[in-house]
Amino acid sequence: MERKIAKVLITEEQLKKRVAELGEQITNEYFGKDLLTIGIFKGAVPFFADLIRQIRIPLRYDFMAVSSYGSSNRSSGAVRLLKDLETSVEDKHVLIVEDIVDTGLTLKYLKENLLRRQPLSLKIVTLLDKPERRQVDIQPDYNGFVIPNEFAVGYGLDYDEMYRNLTYIGVLKPEVYEK
Ligand code: PRP
Ligand code: MG
Repeated sequence: MERKIAKVLITEEQLKKRVAELGEQITNEYFGKDLLTIGIFKGAVPFFADLIRQIRIPLRYDFMAVSSYGSSNRSSGAVRLLKDLETSVEDKHVLIVEDIVDTGLTLKYLKENLLRRQPLSLKIVTLLDKPERRQVDIQPDYNGFVIPNEFAVGYGLDYDEMYRNLTYIGVLKPEVYEK
């Protein structure tokens, strides 16, 4: 295990199993429908890549990138669009794929932004949900794991852009971010 990790929260095996379950659920829900999955840079990349290969129906995919104005004033609620879709959501059933819903500000922004473009439907799948941190009222339609309010990294989640390539979700040792 990476030496800056205090403990493993979700193992690689647990991730694999749950992602397959989500894929099956989504496959059943969208069978016969025109599905556009939207991955959100950068955190969602590993989850996105694994999930879409567990969705056993034809689909399209695209990406968006957003940024909150500095993590210190997250509570301002200001989210800005860094990269937009290259495809239209018109006549598509849209599924946003995110790694985590924390305060909810990112997903609230994305949901409102995409709804204005009038897709046939809009749903959200998240790998992780940290409900204790929620600031706005938003719920994913599908979620992998509910996690406690701890500093989770790995499988796309970073601290200072590091640890995204861990194959599991771990909790960072406090010494790493307290220095
Ligand atoms: C993280 C995470 C989610 C968002 C969740 O992304 O990947 O997108 O924060 O937090 P929220 O519910 O409080 O909005 P971040 O903006 O840090 O960028 P990244 O995906 O590039 O790591
Ligand atoms: Mg993100």
